[in-house]
Amino acid sequence: MTETPLPQGAEVLVTDVRKAFRTGGDQQLRAVDGVSLRIGPGRLVALTGPSGSGKSTLLHLLGAIERPDSGSIEVAGTDITALGRRALADYRRGIGIVFQRFHLLPALTALDNVIAPVLPVRTAFDKRARARELLAAVGLAGREDALPSKLSGGQQQRVAIARALVNSPSLLLADEPTGNLDSRTGAEVFELLTELRATYGTTMVVATHDPGLAEACEEQVRLHDGRLQAAE
Ligand SMILES: Nc1ncnc2c1ncn2[C@@H]1O[C@H](COP(=O)(O)OP(=O)(O)OP(=O)(O)O)[C@@H](O)[C@H]1O
Ligand SMILES: [Mg+2]
Repeated sequence: MTETPLPQGAEVLVTDVRKAFRTGGDQQLRAVDGVSLRIGPGRLVALTGPSGSGKSTLLHLLGAIERPDSGSIEVAGTDITALGRRALADYRRGIGIVFQRFHLLPALTALDNVIAPVLPVRTAFDKRARARELLAAVGLAGREDALPSKLSGGQQQRVAIARALVNSPSLLLADEPTGNLDSRTGAEVFELLTELRATYGTTMVVATHDPGLAEACEEQVRLHDGRLQAAE
């Protein structure tokens, strides 16, 4: 766990962001409805709120998987809503995303899953060495050659987290990363995220239904019907 330069966690500035979906006929569903918030560099923020409140949509907007209808999203000083195709692809490569369903490639070993995002691009670091280092950092030293089917759910999520970090992202987005895990394994994976944050300084936004995990974050952002609710 040396050599790799520490990324500076990104500051995230969300200003009056809206995203509506058409739901048949002329109906519009306001999934994210005028959200403004600032996330300081290197912060660990929980995104909470009931099912359908807009957590995933907001994460997708932050990850530039979706574009907002209006508003701006600045990440490390760049308004990602104004980027062209190529710059957007660069942006997406520079952040890490972890999903509830681990989305590992079943035919690839743990090590190759971690390398997969950077396989097609030239990197300043040795890809295999970096992947080994990250697998060790998530507690999977010795399991580099295991196929996902031979790993437990918690271990698969650890591989997914290592994969999300392969590019030293300044921002990590996690959508219910513990949602498919039992509570103890979920707590361990969450603990791992907090450790990685301390090691790498990555800004992390974690959508979670688990009040215990949300409490353990430095900040909680609560959504209701696409709007921010004042923190309790
Ligand atoms: N692609 C889409 N097309 C139409 N409606 C959508 C789409 N994505 C999300 N929605 C709607 O937007 C609202 C917010 O959904 P979102 O997935 O962001 O909620 P969530 O807070 O992540 O919920 P959960 O806790 O169940 O994951 C919901 O009413 C959902 O049905
Ligand atoms: Mg969701």
